[in-house]
Amino acid sequence: MTPTRAACAALDAADPVAALRDEFTLPEGVLYLDGNSLGALPRHTAARIAAVVEQEWGQGLIRSWNDAGWYAMPRGLGNRIAPLIGAADGQVVVCDSTSVNLFKVLGAALRLRPGRRTVLAEHASFPTDLYITEGVTGLFDGARTVLLPTAADLDRHLGDDTAVVVLSHADYRTGELLDMAAVTERVHAAGALVVWDLCHTAGALPVELDRCAVDFAVGCGYKYLNGGPGAPAFLYVAERHQADARQPLSGWFGHTRPFAFEPGFEPAEGIGRFLTGTPPLLGLAALDASLDVWEKADLTALRATSLELTDLFLALVEPLGLESVTPREHARRGSHVSLRHPDGYAVMQALIARGVIGDFRAPDLMRFGFTPLYLRRTDVFDAAAHLAGVLASGEWQEERFARKGAVT
Ligand SMILES: Cc1ncc(COP(=O)(O)O)c(C=O)c1O
Repeated sequence: MTPTRAACAALDAADPVAALRDEFTLPEGVLYLDGNSLGALPRHTAARIAAVVEQEWGQGLIRSWNDAGWYAMPRGLGNRIAPLIGAADGQVVVCDSTSVNLFKVLGAALRLRPGRRTVLAEHASFPTDLYITEGVTGLFDGARTVLLPTAADLDRHLGDDTAVVVLSHADYRTGELLDMAAVTERVHAAGALVVWDLCHTAGALPVELDRCAVDFAVGCGYKYLNGGPGAPAFLYVAERHQADARQPLSGWFGHTRPFAFEPGFEPAEGIGRFLTGTPPLLGLAALDASLDVWEKADLTALRATSLELTDLFLALVEPLGLESVTPREHARRGSHVSLRHPDGYAVMQALIARGVIGDFRAPDLMRFGFTPLYLRRTDVFDAAAHLAGVLASGEWQEERFARKGAVT
C-alpha cells in the first residue's frame, strides 16, 4: 500500500536529512526534480560570488591570485570533493568540463598501455563520452573505439588488446548503477585500465574510488554537487599512476614551474599535471560555496533517503501503467527514475507548466531526479499526483507542449 501525504510528512519530519533543504534557495511553487541535470542554488552562493567579485577581484585585483588563494583553488577544491568520491587527498583536481577531462585522462590512460590499442565504451553512454573517446583514439596510431552493446557485454570484449574501458557509474537515461568494484576488478584482470564517469553519482551516493582501486574518473560540478550552471568539473587519477601519467593537454597550469616561463613542458608533481589553463575563478568560487553544504551532509544517510524517495515515486506512479526503465534493486539504482511515454516530451512540458520540473531524454524518457538534499517525501507525493493529473486530463496534448526548446 502506498503511503498517504500525511504519512510522507511525518517521515520527512523525522528525517535529519530533510533539514538540509534550508541550505538551498528554491522558487515558491516549484517541485524540482532535475537536480541530476542542474543542481539547485545553495543559499549562500550568491553572497560568496558577490564577495569574490567585489572584494577579491574588485579590490584585490591581480594580487588575489596569491592573497586570496586563487592559484591553489583547483587542487583545494579537488581535496574537498575527494571524500565525496572515496578518494584520499592529492588525487582529485577541479578544472575544465567533464568532456575535456575525459579527453585528458583517456589520453593519459592510453599512453600507460602502449602495446594495447582498443578502448571499450558502452553504446548507451552519454554521447559526449563516445565523441571524446572516438576523438582520442583517432589521435593514437592504430587505436580504435569498440562499443559494447551494454555494460553486461564487457567480459566478451575484454582482451589482450584492451587498453582502457570507459563506463558511466550510473546511466544518464535509465539510472542503472554499475558495480564499480566488480567491474574494475574484471578490467584489471584483463590488464586494462578503467575510467569511470561519475556525473550521475558524485554527490548522489557514496562512491569508493580508492577502495575499488579505480584508475581514473571524471565528473561534473553542476549536477548533484550544485556548483551552478557550467560549473567546473573534476578528475581523479589514482596516486599510483600519477608519476607516469602524461596527459595530452599539457598547458602551463600543469607545468611544474608555470611562472618560470620556460619553453619546454615539465609536468608538475602529482595531480597538478592534469591542469591545463587559467581556471575560471567565479565558477570555482560558486563550487566552493556549494561544497560547504557537504560539510553538513552525510552521504550514507543521503543515499538511504534517496532510495526511499525513488522507491516512493516508483510505488506512487505504478498505477499509471507507465514503464519504468530504472532498476528496482537498490544496488543497481542511482538517484533518478525514468519513465517511458511515447509523448514523454509533451507530458514533461505539461508537468513543468504545473511547476513540476524534470526533463526529457529522447526518444521517450521522462526523467525525474531525486536529490535528498532538498527534496522531501511530500514533494515526491505531490509530483506523482501531478503526473497522474496531467495524464488523466490529457492536458499534455495542448499544442504548446509539443514545441521543442534547444535544451530538453
Ligand atoms: C554522464 C555524463 N557525462 C558527461 C556529461 C557532459 O559533461 P560536460 O558537458 O560537462 O562536458 C554529462 C552531462 O549531462 C553526463 O550526464
